[in-house]
Amino acid sequence: TPIVVAVDGPAGSGKSSVSKATARRLGWAYLDTGAAYRALSWYVVQRRLDPTDSAAVIDALPDFDYRIGTDPSGEDPANTGVFVGDHDVTDAIREPDVTAVVSAIARVPEVRAFLTQLFRDIVRRSGKPGVVVEGRDITTVVFPDAPVRILLTADESVRIARRSAELIGHSAAHVGEALLRRDAADSRVVDFMNAADGVTTVDSTDLDFDQTVDAVIQV
Ligand code: C5P
Repeated sequence: TPIVVAVDGPAGSGKSSVSKATARRLGWAYLDTGAAYRALSWYVVQRRLDPTDSAAVIDALPDFDYRIGTDPSGEDPANTGVFVGDHDVTDAIREPDVTAVVSAIARVPEVRAFLTQLFRDIVRRSGKPGVVVEGRDITTVVFPDAPVRILLTADESVRIARRSAELIGHSAAHVGEALLRRDAADSRVVDFMNAADGVTTVDSTDLDFDQTVDAVIQV
């Protein structure tokens, strides 16, 4: 089985881009677990199910046909992007309408168990010596025995500023409010604001992107 580097952190901490760059530098695979929660949310919205109806969401799980690329370079088209059935949902899962319902879906225990199993399978079959796996509960639930476990944090104002820069056309106030609301909802389900025992905190507040990747590689 591949070596796992587990990275958790709140929204806007830079987890995805930093984890991807780390994997690229190591020549390893990269798994964005939030993308799976988002893809399931997209599927629930597309099937016009009520995202707060856990029973309906659980019923939809067996039909959820999901595929995610794990190549961090983006150079292998067969191993890049997020798909649900034949739909390329790579961009759609980042839209605010999907982001708005993801916390409701992620709090369902059956959903978490289903996706956790999927993540372990994807890592096992990655075909790489190691995988950088990024999310909210990777250091604590999905791969608690990973040899490298990191909590990536940054001050709230920095996280909001970074996320606003990504979402062109949305006001910083609105982005900030949505981000804090999502973190509050998510952290009632899993604690990703405090490092668990044995988890190394990397605070990127005063680091630029390359410095943050360096800090993660150092760990
Ligand atoms: O990381 P990202 O912001 O894309 O994650 C989207 C959502 O997926 C989170 O807000 C959270 O509700 C859920 N999530 C989770 N556990 C993970 C990764 C993501 O509950 N390991």
